Amino acid sequence: MSIHGRDFLTLKDFTPAEIRQILDFALEVKRRQKEGERYHPMAGKMMAMIFQKPSLRTRVSFETGMFQLGGAALYLGPSDIGLGKRETVEDIARVLSSQVDVIMARVFGHDIVEDLARYSDVPVINGLSDFTHPCQALADFQTILESGKRLKGIRLTYVGDGNNVANSLIFGGILLGMHVVTASPAGYQVTESVQAWARAKGKDSGGSLTVTESVEEAVTGADVLYTDVWASMGQEEESAKRSKVFQGYQINSKALALAREDAIVLHCLPAHYDDEITKEVVDSPNSRIFDQAENRLHAQKALIALVAGE
Ligand code: CP
Ligand code: NVA
Repeated sequence: MSIHGRDFLTLKDFTPAEIRQILDFALEVKRRQKEGERYHPMAGKMMAMIFQKPSLRTRVSFETGMFQLGGAALYLGPSDIGLGKRETVEDIARVLSSQVDVIMARVFGHDIVEDLARYSDVPVINGLSDFTHPCQALADFQTILESGKRLKGIRLTYVGDGNNVANSLIFGGILLGMHVVTASPAGYQVTESVQAWARAKGKDSGGSLTVTESVEEAVTGADVLYTDVWASMGQEEESAKRSKVFQGYQINSKALALAREDAIVLHCLPAHYDDEITKEVVDSPNSRIFDQAENRLHAQKALIALVAGE
C-alpha cells in the first residue's frame, strides 16, 4: 500500500487503512526524532508553502518538518504571489511544480487547493481550507492514540461551529469507526451533505455521526471533548453576532465533569479563552492540547515522507 505521489486535500479521499498507515508512521517518526535519529527522505527537496491566511502552527510545523526531513520550505504569503489576483491558480501550480517537490497551501475556498492539485505535477497538501483541515485531524488522532485510547468505537464530541475542523474530524472519525457527536447552535451545524456522507460511510466503518444542539447531551460520556473558535479566519465581521449565538457552546469544568473520567480535551488552537473554552480546562490534567499542537510536526513529517519522500 503506497500513497506516494498522492495529493492530501481531504481525508475523504483516503481509506481507513491509508489513514492508519499515516498515523502509525507518525508515531514512529516522533519516536525516532525523540531518540535523536536522523531521517532525511526529503534531502535536497523543497516545499512551497502558500498562505492566504495567518498561521502559527501550520507554518512552523511544515517548515520545521521539512528541515528535519533533510529538505527546506519556502514561505509564500498573501502579498508575495497574489494568488488568483496577480496570477492564476493554474499558472502558479504549473510554475511551482516545475521547481519544487511538494506544495502545501492554506486557502479560503477549497476549490483553490483542488485547482492547485489539478494543475500541479507534485503532491499538494491542504494546510486548511474553508471546507476542511485534514492535517489537523491527523495530529488529533495521533494525540488520541498517544493517550492510550483506541480510535474505533470511541465517542468524540465536538462543541461549537460546524466548520472546517469539525468536518475533518467527521471525515476521519467516521472512516476510523468513531462515534462523532457535534453540538452546534441551529444554523451553524455541519452541512447536510457532510451529514449524508457520514451516514453512508458509517454503514461500512461502524462509525456514526450525531448532530445535536444540546451541549449537555453531546458531552455526556465522551471519550474526547473537542472545540474550536466560534468565528474562523475570514469570518471576522461576524464575530459579534456569533458571540451571542454561541453563548454556552463552551468546554468548561461542568462539561468536563459530564464526560468520562479519563476523557481528554483537544483544541486545534488558537484558543479564545472564555468563549469556546476556559483556561481552567486548557490547563487541566485532561487537556492534551499542547501535545496535539506538537503532533502537527510529527504527523505532517510522516505525511510528507509518505507522499513525497525518497
Ligand atoms: N491549528 C492550526 O492550524 O493553527 P495555525 O492556524 O496557527 O496554523
Ligand atoms: N476553524 C479555524 C481553525 C484554525 C486553525 C479557522 O479556520 O480559522
